[in-house]
Amino acid sequence: MLSPTIYFFSFLIMGVAAVPTRPTTDDPHRSHLSRKALPEDWYHDQDHPVHALFKRSHQGGSDYAPVGTPAWANGYPPGPPDPDLLPAEWVNALDAAVAAGKIPDIPQSTNTQGVSPTYPFGVNPSSPQVCSSTYKCRIPGAIWDSPDGVFASSFDDGPTPSTPMLVDFLTSVNQTTTHFMIGIKMLYHPTQLLAIINSGNDLAVHTWTHPYMTTLNNLQIVGQLGWTMEMIYNSTGGRVAKYWRPPYGDSDVRVSAIAKEVFGLQTVIWNYDTDDWNGTPQSIGTAMTGFLASPKSPGLMVLQHELTDMMVNAFIAAFPQIISNGWSFASLAKALGDGRAYQNSQNSDSEDVYPDGIVFGAEPSNTTELTASPTPTGSSTYSAISPSASAIAAIGVGLGSTKSSAALRIILSTSARISFLISCVVSVLILSS
Ligand SMILES: *[C@@H]1O[C@H](CO)[C@@H](O)[C@H](O)[C@H]1NC(C)=O
Ligand SMILES: *[C@@H]1O[C@H](CO)[C@@H](O)[C@H](O)[C@H]1NC(C)=O
Ligand SMILES: *[C@@H]1O[C@H](CO)[C@@H](O)[C@H](O)[C@H]1NC(C)=O
Ligand SMILES: [Zn+2]
Repeated sequence: MLSPTIYFFSFLIMGVAAVPTRPTTDDPHRSHLSRKALPEDWYHDQDHPVHALFKRSHQGGSDYAPVGTPAWANGYPPGPPDPDLLPAEWVNALDAAVAAGKIPDIPQSTNTQGVSPTYPFGVNPSSPQVCSSTYKCRIPGAIWDSPDGVFASSFDDGPTPSTPMLVDFLTSVNQTTTHFMIGIKMLYHPTQLLAIINSGNDLAVHTWTHPYMTTLNNLQIVGQLGWTMEMIYNSTGGRVAKYWRPPYGDSDVRVSAIAKEVFGLQTVIWNYDTDDWNGTPQSIGTAMTGFLASPKSPGLMVLQHELTDMMVNAFIAAFPQIISNGWSFASLAKALGDGRAYQNSQNSDSEDVYPDGIVFGAEPSNTTELTASPTPTGSSTYSAISPSASAIAAIGVGLGSTKSSAALRIILSTSARISFLISCVVSVLILSS
């Protein structure tokens, strides 16, 4: 079992250590992205709340700020989302789902120092009433397996500086994968985010700051999922994520119900784990060789991470074996269900995206739903946070500040790095004492 505290800090350090890079104005990805306007058609039920939360824009996506610009980065939480600063629409959708009896009323778990979450005395995590995936209970509707014969590929915890290497390799073999993205790391790594989007890879939700989700209350869960969905939505010309994977595989009937009933998200776990985050090229290779020799039913859903070059290289080394063992390799989001990677689109660069980024199809109708703002209210509250509010705020806001010169940004990120490293060292010392 991993040590989540160390793990959490390690990815924060990685996020901090990598200077947030902003695409320059001549970034070739920029113009490409602005062409990814979507039509009005949605593929999910029209009466699902997510339809109202992430509306189709009649500007067809051309009004989404380019990834990496100040306008794009502003407005997101600089750390764990504040339940008091959620868009009202999200809260209303949660309240409606609770009132309709769709969200099981079970206790939150607690966890300390890397131990698996535990529930209050008398609450059985393996019972159908709780069904914690940490305890290997399979929540009805959650996905643990791939279709027979399919290696449904996904990578967690990106984007990171190792992401382009993964994407370039997949492009070289004419493949894509599904990236379960951490929201706050998309803020840190816009260039790597664009590498994913512009190579036709699929984006899915891995929460905003990677917590144990069953330890959170309902509003905190809405914030963790909602902001990550909004970031994907605003970065891809309006695509609505279809799948989410709980950090540490930790979900239960309450958490998965909020994901499904408020945001239309399907919960995805895994059926094999290489432990790559804690492994060596040899240990990962040995694990993969074993998995690949297993029977073709069910298909393989292997937990992998794009945290470091080592992890990506271990996958690249194993790739020929996936094929030679007779597995059909596919991006997880395209391999499941109806093959649509998003709730409202076939994939990241599919035919249902209108060219030229101008208005598509028919004129706007007169319905209030379509003329309403495509964005949640209240999201601008976060942009008021000053860089000095916290180290994380300095990174998130400094990344997107037009006013800060390059020098100031470097100072901000340097001071943020130092304070982060100090807090990490202190925390590690406390934990190990
Ligand atoms: C998402 O994009 C819309 C449309 O440009 C914008 O109004 C909204 O503020 C963006 N959301 C965030 C959190 O920046
Ligand atoms: C790449 O993959 C796509 C989708 O599977 C396929 O249609 C296409 O023919 C492939 N191209 C090459 C060069 O293999
Ligand atoms: C939209 O509004 C105009 C003017 O009010 C009206 O003539 C037209 O029929 C309406 N269109 C629809 C689709 O409701
Ligand atoms: Zn993760």
